[in-house]
Amino acid sequence: MSGPIANKAASVAISGLVAGYGSLPVLREVSLDIKGGTVAVLLGHNGAGKSTLAKALMGLVTVDAGGIAVDGEDVKGLSTAQRLKRGMALVLQEHAVFADLTVLENLRVGGRTSGVGGDGFAQACDMVYELFPILKEFRGRTATSLSGGQQRMLAIGMSMMTQPRFLILDEPSIGLAPKLVDEVMAQIRLICRQLGVTVLLIEQNVEAALKICDQVVALRSGSVIFAGAPQELGSAMSVLDLL
Ligand SMILES: Nc1ncnc2c1ncn2[C@@H]1O[C@H](COP(=O)(O)OP(=O)(O)OP(=O)(O)O)[C@@H](O)[C@H]1O
Ligand SMILES: [Mg+2]
Repeated sequence: MSGPIANKAASVAISGLVAGYGSLPVLREVSLDIKGGTVAVLLGHNGAGKSTLAKALMGLVTVDAGGIAVDGEDVKGLSTAQRLKRGMALVLQEHAVFADLTVLENLRVGGRTSGVGGDGFAQACDMVYELFPILKEFRGRTATSLSGGQQRMLAIGMSMMTQPRFLILDEPSIGLAPKLVDEVMAQIRLICRQLGVTVLLIEQNVEAALKICDQVVALRSGSVIFAGAPQELGSAMSVLDLL
């Protein structure tokens, strides 16, 4: 792929992370290492704490204890904006696009966070259009007029405008038709391998996620109950049994 962005994928080390909402503890000493340039999949039942982990990594949920290191640098004390500048990005599970803005305007918002302007903006847009050609076709349409799947693609596209080195995707395949799930998963793999982005992929679609990942982590009630290579799972069913 001819993207302008040849990132250096970040290595990520999460250690003993404790986080929650007020007095409600959600994450209980979560530790996880993600090697640069790999895809880690985070599985877990509803309410296990997956989105909380994603938000804690971005500074959107208060961390009570533990550490988050990106390329060996502790980012726990940084604001969300500073983390974005360090190459971290999150595609939220919900409300990830601006409904009344066009596709292009949404991409511009994405680019603004990292200060991409002029030629850089056009190049970054081309990279996104190469990943998801439908977005080029629909660039003048409002996000609200896109299908759910197309909106998910736009959300991923917006995050790619920030030129991340570590990308967290919170259930990108939710509500997608099976054919589209495979397409989005293939593009996530491409983002990782060809654009040099380390990926933490939160998924409930275990089968699709296992096909593209290098590492699997399963959360139950805020604790890691499995971490290893996908082939160590035996079968996807065994992990489903664990959840
Ligand atoms: N803003 C909030 N305030 C208080 N509690 C919250 C908040 N957001 C989530 N929780 C609680 O934290 C726990 C973990 O929620 P979280 O959203 O991280 O789960 P999840 O694994 O992402 O689930 P799902 O698969 O449904 O998206 C749940 O018990 C949830 O009710
Ligand atoms: Mg969630």
